[in-house]
Amino acid sequence: MTQENLQICHHPLASDALRIVRDEATPSPLFRDAIHRLTVLAALEATRTLPTRSTTVQTPLVSASAEALDVRVGIIPILRAGLSMVDPVLSLIPRAEVWHLGLFRDEQTLEPVTYYSKLPEAQPVDVALVLDPMLATGGSAIAAFDKLKSWGVKDLRFLGILAAPEGVQAVAASHPDVSLYVAALDDHLNDQGYIVPGLGDAGDRAYNAVAE
Ligand code: PRP
Ligand code: URA
Repeated sequence: MTQENLQICHHPLASDALRIVRDEATPSPLFRDAIHRLTVLAALEATRTLPTRSTTVQTPLVSASAEALDVRVGIIPILRAGLSMVDPVLSLIPRAEVWHLGLFRDEQTLEPVTYYSKLPEAQPVDVALVLDPMLATGGSAIAAFDKLKSWGVKDLRFLGILAAPEGVQAVAASHPDVSLYVAALDDHLNDQGYIVPGLGDAGDRAYNAVAE
């Protein structure tokens, strides 16, 4: 399997947060906290190559050289679970635009179904950071990339928590230009399309919406 499109965050703080999100006993507030930390760590890597322009700033003492972020960034959370990753990215890029995409996986076919998409027709962002904790078959992420490319976005980057090899391969085949930034590459998908060892249903766990 090619992994050229995949960057895994190797960091002791990521390992510790991964332990927390994987643990079935972790309650929703602590699950969201750990997702927050993992997202910050992934976002730092995913944004490392964003362009800046040189400028100057007047400090209380002197005029000093400075750098200003020089790009229009869009944050694209895939609902629901991707919502849990929005605030940490906004904390790093407060002026980013947030464009929501509503997608769910059909439980039988595992195909993505779109229920919300209101991207404007013109003026695409320069860089889109697509947020979703889980890349399983890759179908939802690929559907999001298709929509963003139709909007005209040229630079797409995916931020996740867990990826399955099947999803990484599917993205590499259909969108080889998209880089994936995740905290871990897991082992495989089970018969229901869940990532193993995984963390279960990310949306249910983030929003305390686990059906009895
Ligand atoms: C989950 C997850 C991804 C998708 C991944 O969402 O958050 O969007 O599944 O699976 P895929 O790679 O096979 O497409 P889900 O459809 O469960 O919706 P939810 O976030 O509302 O729970
Ligand atoms: N979506 C999830 O929330 N978890 C998985 O393991 C796969 C898809």
